[in-house]
Amino acid sequence: MKKQYLADRVATLKPSGIRKFFDIVATMQDVISLGIGEPDFTTPEPIVRAGIRSLQAGETHYTSNAGLMELREQICAHLQSLHGVSFEPQGGILATVGVSEALYLAMTAILNPGDEVVIPTPCFVSYQAEVILAGGVPVELPTYFEDGFQVRADKLEEAITARTKAILIGFPNNPTGAVATRQSLLEVARIAEQHDLLVVSDELYDQLVYGVKHVCFPTLPGMYDRTILLGGFSKNYAMTGWRIGFAAGPVDLIRGLTRIHQYTIMSAPTTAQVAAIEALIVAAGRLGRAPAATMVSEQEARGVRVTRVSDELFGRLSGREGPSGLAAIVRGSPAGLADLPAGPGSVFVALHEIGNPGNLGTIIRTANAAGMSGVVLLGRATDPYGPAAVKASMGALFSTPVAQAGVEEFFGWAAGHQIAVVTTSATATERFWAASYPRPLALLLGAEGEGLPEAVLGRGDLQVSIPMTGTAESLNLAVAAGLLIYEVQRQAGALA
Ligand SMILES: Cc1ncc(COP(=O)(O)O)c(C=O)c1O
Repeated sequence: MKKQYLADRVATLKPSGIRKFFDIVATMQDVISLGIGEPDFTTPEPIVRAGIRSLQAGETHYTSNAGLMELREQICAHLQSLHGVSFEPQGGILATVGVSEALYLAMTAILNPGDEVVIPTPCFVSYQAEVILAGGVPVELPTYFEDGFQVRADKLEEAITARTKAILIGFPNNPTGAVATRQSLLEVARIAEQHDLLVVSDELYDQLVYGVKHVCFPTLPGMYDRTILLGGFSKNYAMTGWRIGFAAGPVDLIRGLTRIHQYTIMSAPTTAQVAAIEALIVAAGRLGRAPAATMVSEQEARGVRVTRVSDELFGRLSGREGPSGLAAIVRGSPAGLADLPAGPGSVFVALHEIGNPGNLGTIIRTANAAGMSGVVLLGRATDPYGPAAVKASMGALFSTPVAQAGVEEFFGWAAGHQIAVVTTSATATERFWAASYPRPLALLLGAEGEGLPEAVLGRGDLQVSIPMTGTAESLNLAVAAGLLIYEVQRQAGALA
């Protein structure tokens, strides 16, 4: 008879039932699988692009074992603003290959052979297996429909023995959907304290709650020092395939997890880490980290709404039929953002991916004639049609200042100065920033046949929708829209 090469704990490990179910469902047509926690949309485009950009920029190497410092800092900022809990980016956060790896690390790091872990069930399929693989013993604690699938303190007490090392909870719960009440978690906390137990809290679904509030376990009194918090990106940001998550907790515990991670994984996928940073920035709507709240309430106080620019108005404002005989005034070289005349009533046109310097000349001239405050070229200084190219091809012909800036930098700056912005929607990143822009005046001009994204239409108190016809014309339209915005604002008495 063949020798049993596999270790007993592996040979006896039951295959995951839900996987079997998933495989069956995958062969059937017109059946929606509710078997696996998989968001039914793909990762949002700005996140995908961040990943692609990082690859193209040559970020194809290992990161530090714990993950990129920027990611760890963003995770800390995110947990602080979402749950009011504070972790150390240096030592208190570990970027992992999903919560799956974090679970494995947590169990391996804390369990000695035979240690018991109490697991409220039904639960995510891996919980028991991870305990077994780490040499521990899973102790199931059933929860019931009648109790709203909450953990009952009396049952938890009964499940605890002298060998109990930890309680592994997962709320919001997969598969029951239960969100633990504060009261039931306080009971878990009380018992954990009383029996000196660790709590591993899988909060992967923390943002997917509807009408109830998720309580982050380490925020409960006395729990910070005895909790390993697991979180991630798979569900909240539809990033299951990227394989990125994290463990957070007291430095001494997370250092233990990091030691195993260092020898088994090395570092979480670099591309996924970069994409995760973008996801957190997207989620927080951080506009170059400019404070937005007061501006948002100010915009709510207005209430101007324009949905369409008439052809006549466009013609008048765009300068298609004039102004002619424009005086050209020499005004030096392209400025930095800080050199632009930013103040109440400023209107800028922000342009991305200029087709050729001639188009840019057209729009600068129109902006100039219309008395706009400036033109901002979005993108890198190395863009072939950036300010340097414009200057070289046309000379410094216009009095309207031209600046060059990155998209995020520009939106952050504009938000900080409460500035009206008109931008064409050349890229998803730009759309994203415009959609998150706190002013009512962020405007996206869709390419031909393309509507404005719902996210943009659904917010702000002034939107202008203009069909695009061609590059040079589009640029003029952008100026026209900027002027229209300015005019509407002025008439509404919104500007001093
Ligand atoms: C409760 C729970 N925890 C963890 C995981 C694993 O997630 P990840 O993709 O972050 O490894 C899942 C996946 O379905 C889950 O439902």
